[in-house]
Amino acid sequence: MKDMDRSAAAAIDRLRKQIAYHEKKYYQDNDPQISDAEFDAMMRDLRRLEEAHPELIVPESPTQRVGGQPVEGFPSVRHRTPMLSLDNVYSVEEFEEFESRLLRLLPGRTISYVAELKIDGLSVSLLYRDGRLIQAVTRGDGIQGDDVTANARTIRTLPLTIPERREVEVRGEIYLPFASFQEINRAREAREEPLFANPRNAAAGSIRLLDPRIVAARRLDMFLYYLTIEGKEPASQWEELELIGALGFKTNPHSRRCPDAAAVIAFWREWTDRRETLDYDADGVVIKVDDEEQRRELGFTAKFPRGAVSFKFPARQAATRLREIIVQVGRTGALTPVAVLDPVKISGTTVSRATLHNEDEIRRKDIRIGDIVLVERSGDVIPRIVGPMKERRTGSEKEFVPPGRCPVCGSRVHRAEEEVVARCENPSCPAKLRESLLHFAGRRAMNIEGLGEALVDQLLEKNLVASLPDLFALRAETLAALERMGPKSSQNLIEEIEKSKANDLGRLIFALGIRHVGEKTARTLAERYADMDALAAASEEELRLIEDVGPVVAESLVFFFRQPENLDLLKKLRAAGVNVRSERKAPAGDRPLTGKTFVLTGTLKGYTREEARAALEARGAAVTDSISKKTTYLIAGAEAGSKLEKARKLGVPVLTEKELDAFLRD
Ligand code: IVH
Repeated sequence: MKDMDRSAAAAIDRLRKQIAYHEKKYYQDNDPQISDAEFDAMMRDLRRLEEAHPELIVPESPTQRVGGQPVEGFPSVRHRTPMLSLDNVYSVEEFEEFESRLLRLLPGRTISYVAELKIDGLSVSLLYRDGRLIQAVTRGDGIQGDDVTANARTIRTLPLTIPERREVEVRGEIYLPFASFQEINRAREAREEPLFANPRNAAAGSIRLLDPRIVAARRLDMFLYYLTIEGKEPASQWEELELIGALGFKTNPHSRRCPDAAAVIAFWREWTDRRETLDYDADGVVIKVDDEEQRRELGFTAKFPRGAVSFKFPARQAATRLREIIVQVGRTGALTPVAVLDPVKISGTTVSRATLHNEDEIRRKDIRIGDIVLVERSGDVIPRIVGPMKERRTGSEKEFVPPGRCPVCGSRVHRAEEEVVARCENPSCPAKLRESLLHFAGRRAMNIEGLGEALVDQLLEKNLVASLPDLFALRAETLAALERMGPKSSQNLIEEIEKSKANDLGRLIFALGIRHVGEKTARTLAERYADMDALAAASEEELRLIEDVGPVVAESLVFFFRQPENLDLLKKLRAAGVNVRSERKAPAGDRPLTGKTFVLTGTLKGYTREEARAALEARGAAVTDSISKKTTYLIAGAEAGSKLEKARKLGVPVLTEKELDAFLRD
């Protein structure tokens, strides 16, 4: 290896270690040590160095988490030891029976336990060899599963390397946090794709996507709870969890060592209530005999290990009568059926409405008005109807007939052939305006705090607002006269509205509620276009070239900006002082090489020294004449002399002209 290559290899190695450290701090410990910009700069540096030295790229480099290529499929892999599941208990009594059985098998002994949350995801086994993640396999049928290595690597909390040379197998649960689940379903809704029923289905669907780039965007996560290392056997489950954590894996922070069955029951009771506060789904707690020796003695039944059990939480489902199906009109005029239920308590919350998504779903599940239906809620997701209990029908149930007219304005509704929903076609339907206003003011859009449903309804009722721009003409005195509004809250709202004018362009684009344009697409568009006019003038062909903008989105954008009433709306928003310009130019402090100091030496082939200096400075770098410990990189051309020597002495990474090219490419 040439000297310079050796130095690049050292720089690469150092960056990889730093990045792995900061990934753990950021993603696992929620304790970032550096700014996002600094982290991004490290990744950028590493990418550039690897581009210049492709021979040094290894699969466990942090740049390789998201592979560039879709995979062909998921080869089947046999588990080294079967991945079993656990027997279930559903009540304190059943758990006590479980413990009595253990005491019969281990007479005279005291048994202590570890209680862990039972994460509702999918279990996966990971294999590390020589400290590197080499394989991830789903549980499958327990004997063999699917190799999903490329997708598992995209999980940010999962270390690609561990400080253990021996072969390690770890197992755990891949899950999707509620926030990511809702984001995925919102995007699917915008594209009119079928929704995932719960986070577990979404996680299972995501891990089987062929394109790791899409998987990476889904933000899967993983808790580990099982480990085997050749020649090393932790004496207890608790020590095993500690070892898993010490190797850099994410373990669930709520696990608890329980000295006896009473402590286990207390843990289960506590989490039966507290599970709603988690940002992921847990469907019970897993109780494991802590002592490894005892667990080995207990052995297995035909199906399960005897030393562990899954202690389920009470179901978050309940049966109740479907009284009525009402139809709501959304922002785009979409008619959505909503179930009105006899109020029923499900894990502490009274549920009286549930979403029915669309007519086809009602028909597919054969849900009828008057049915006793099974309703399910999980976390903060809107309750849904699992299905009707057909055996409890009396014959008086009625089929739902979709309305031919808008329930709000009475206009004709239309269902396009390729769509799952019918829409109200009246452009000035008050229901649409109501939803548009709520969407516009929403937290993820213009973020106008205080402009909620109650107020919007009053504004519409009193004819104070007939379109979005009218919001900006509201006055505090007018608002103060409305119900439940005083001078103070009116003034606050006016200030919120005023403040929203300065929002970035991405928020405004999203706030307009253009069909199929979600938050992320809106942000991408705001980065691409200098202002709203430039976006409005973009052609369908041009828009399609943008990443995340497919033909459907492009068509929808062009359609939106072709409507005279929308152009008029934009004109009025601008006249009201709403920001329509992009901030896409990165501020001076945030250029790609900001904070880095370069020294140039020797003769470069492609540039004069001055050209190279100017190019580096234009990207925010400082270029100095002499080497010191503070120098980030020395760029060495041909016949480099004493500076090269000094750099080596001080341990300053030395880069070639080819590597400089990579820095200057964009
Ligand atoms: S231990 C022998 N611990 O629940 C099986 N499982 O029926 C050892 N699960 O298939 C599993 N959280 O998918 C274990 N902390 C936890 C768990 C957990 C979720 C899942 C796992 C397993 C099923 C047990």
